[in-house]
Amino acid sequence: MAQIKREQWGSKIGFVLAAAGSAIGLGNIWKFPYIAGQYGGAAFILIYLICTAVIGLPVLMAETLIGRSTQKNPVGAFKKLTNGSKFWQSIGGMGVAAGFIILSYYAVVAGWALGYIYQAASGVFYQFSKPEVAGQYFNGLISDVVWNVGYFIFFMILTMGVVYAGVKNGIERGSKIMMPILFLLLIILVFRGVTLEGASAGIRYFLHPDWSHVTGEAILAAMGQSFFTLSLGMGAMLTYGSYMSKKDNLPSAAVSIVTLDTLIALLAGLAIFTGVFATGLSPNAGPGLIFHTLPVVFTKMPGGYFFSILFFLLLTIAALTSSISLLEVITAYFVDEKGWSRHRAVLFFGGLTTIFGLPSAFSYNLLAKVSFFGLNFFDFVDFVAANILLPVGGFFIAVFVAYFWGFKKALPELKSGAEKLFEKYYWTISVWKILVKYFAPVLIFLVFLNSIGALKLIADIF
Ligand code: PFF
Repeated sequence: MAQIKREQWGSKIGFVLAAAGSAIGLGNIWKFPYIAGQYGGAAFILIYLICTAVIGLPVLMAETLIGRSTQKNPVGAFKKLTNGSKFWQSIGGMGVAAGFIILSYYAVVAGWALGYIYQAASGVFYQFSKPEVAGQYFNGLISDVVWNVGYFIFFMILTMGVVYAGVKNGIERGSKIMMPILFLLLIILVFRGVTLEGASAGIRYFLHPDWSHVTGEAILAAMGQSFFTLSLGMGAMLTYGSYMSKKDNLPSAAVSIVTLDTLIALLAGLAIFTGVFATGLSPNAGPGLIFHTLPVVFTKMPGGYFFSILFFLLLTIAALTSSISLLEVITAYFVDEKGWSRHRAVLFFGGLTTIFGLPSAFSYNLLAKVSFFGLNFFDFVDFVAANILLPVGGFFIAVFVAYFWGFKKALPELKSGAEKLFEKYYWTISVWKILVKYFAPVLIFLVFLNSIGALKLIADIF
């Protein structure tokens, strides 16, 4: 069979921007601020930073390294490194399935963000006197099947368009255009936030830890969040790593990705909390923070109309650079392993994901009364993917590199392109080894136990 040459990123910065694009998404701008708001602001943030350094960065390096060493998709990578072990291939397969599941509901929320660009532009926010009214309006929109499904499909088409164009011409080029816009929009919004009268209360909230909210659950939520936000555990970073050249410095790229992702989450939190405090609203509104509280915040700030449009544009761009990485995992698998053309894989699986996402979009209207284990369909698939599939995937990635592939084989791969780091700062590599071998598996295992409620069960028993 004639082999089509596998694509590669045009440059290291292309990889860093695409991978940072995957990492920076709804997780940073929608999820991080509201979780931080629920668990005591600065105290939670501090724990989250520690988790990111101790688990996030080492696992990101391990996952990307598997991809770069094999230049394959998640299933093909494990197949190559284990000489065809069925077990390890199924771990890769679980990643591909997780990508499919996450994309199906992630694109529903992204569709809401897209729809809110129009809502912001229409000026409707000015009719909301308080977050409850904005919340009712939001609930009205998502219970409208046409609105909900329409924007979901619109967003899926955008995602498919970028992946269809290829690694270099679609994902890399798209990331190089969208990421600088994202940074710029966020800087404008942070500037607006911190210059508001009364913003200092928001800044204080960010800097002064309130330890009373920090429970075991908060620590585990911080770990889970650093996982989701770095796109770890399902082969997205593995797949992106597979397009990376062995001449590029992998550890330094991983540090850049983690730094950018963390910085964006902190800046998004700063922009949001300064606005929320300056307008006298509550920071702990939960998942509704962005769609219930923020529209009211914008009506109370000078220039709010303009900034509200920018905010939802920012949210949509962030979601798009993440959703393309989810679709790319599935695409790479079918292109590499099944010999499909990229175009066919994107059209077929983009379409299939859209169909599979419909019950998530219907969870707020047609299927509102249907529950799975006490959750609606949307919350159920989110729970399965983010709280079970990702931690399990991350656990096996760390265990695989440390105990099965082994550092003896992994280290020369890591060294390629990073020779100076190995010569001058070998201690950093020794730290990485310890984190991947001991810290990451144990801590991820704890996140997992918590996710399935086992910790509660154990606590109840004792
Ligand atoms: N990291 C993305 C976010 O923070 O929104 C979510 C995500 C994207 C998770 C891609 C997993 C993934 F493979």
